Amino acid sequence: MERRIVKTQVGIVGAGPAGLMLSHLLYTSGIDSTVVESRSHETIRTTQRAGILEHGSVNMLVDSGASDRVLREGHRHDGIELRFDGRNHRIDFLDLVGESVWLYPQNEVFTDLAEARHRTGGDVRYSSSDSSVLDLETDTPKIHFTDVDGQPWEVHCDVVVGSDGSGGICKKSIPAEHRKDYFIQYPFAWFGILAEAPPSAPELIYAHSDRGFALISQRTDKIQRMYFQCDPNEDASTWTEEMIWEELQSRMGGQDGFHLKTGRIFEQMVLPFRSYVCEPMRYGNLFLAGDASHTVPPTGAKGLNLALADVKVLHEGLDSYFNSKNSELLDAYSDRALQRVWKAQNFSYWMTSMLHQHPDGSEFEKKRQLGELSSVVSSRAGSSYLAEAYTGWPLK
Ligand code: PHB
Repeated sequence: MERRIVKTQVGIVGAGPAGLMLSHLLYTSGIDSTVVESRSHETIRTTQRAGILEHGSVNMLVDSGASDRVLREGHRHDGIELRFDGRNHRIDFLDLVGESVWLYPQNEVFTDLAEARHRTGGDVRYSSSDSSVLDLETDTPKIHFTDVDGQPWEVHCDVVVGSDGSGGICKKSIPAEHRKDYFIQYPFAWFGILAEAPPSAPELIYAHSDRGFALISQRTDKIQRMYFQCDPNEDASTWTEEMIWEELQSRMGGQDGFHLKTGRIFEQMVLPFRSYVCEPMRYGNLFLAGDASHTVPPTGAKGLNLALADVKVLHEGLDSYFNSKNSELLDAYSDRALQRVWKAQNFSYWMTSMLHQHPDGSEFEKKRQLGELSSVVSSRAGSSYLAEAYTGWPLK
């Protein structure tokens, strides 16, 4: 079949929140884009991801006109609990830095952005296959793909954006000598569940225990999301409900008698866990955004927020490039975005190493972690860094 051609200004690979948010922001600036995505709308909508939005991410959704549903259906959280030595210690974001976060799962962000693009006539090709990116070093980069009906296409554009996630094709198409990969593996992962149960607490609880880390998060009044540190090779299917509740409860136990509210578990999975950055976030006329160029461990919920922060900076660059014929901001994209990326890498790494048990960690290390946690919760100076990083540094 002959390849059909679509001409646009920005060709975007990946219709996750980063790709769709960028496409939406470009639309508000009068810039055309086509989004190519290998997954179906339904697959993305139903894939479980993290659930916390920084205030800056919420503002992006609302101020861009994408959706204000987050303000009606999301839950504002003004703090979190750090739990160690069997007691909760509240970090009061509102008091410490005057900001909050919103519990609003990534699936909902995707639903809102997909709907916004649909409403404004956006060109989003879900369920495409055989995608590749070509001629990235030239002024006429291209995306090849086959649509859901088997028709092959060629997207002619001025700029390609790779927002196709950690396993995507865009990063891989940058020649190895033009990029540097930084990464670390962790000797643990997260076991995540979704359960039909009432909330066990009004806010998220990040727990340090002798048996390892646990996180009590939420979805709705009736559905809860929880995680516990596990071996990266753990087979989630071998765990019964009883085993899971017992493990979670044992990590949440303590002198205050805290007890989890339990219920039917209807999803259980092991989540990958690593820190990764690809530098620079640009090759020729290809720009990377979100997980396509960096991954953080989920402790601290920075992944989605970082992707949206990339997109904000990239949109500024593209707006200035197309609408004012000035490439300065676009040329500065990688450096500007990487500043936040490395701050978030540090924060995610710090939260992770403060709360998780290393499989061959010493008694010294456990005691040191407790000293660190105590330093964080016992002074305003200690708590403020956590509050500032968790709620999100200002999006300049
Ligand atoms: C979640 O609700 O899925 C969640 C919340 C906070 C995290 C990670 C995941 O740090």
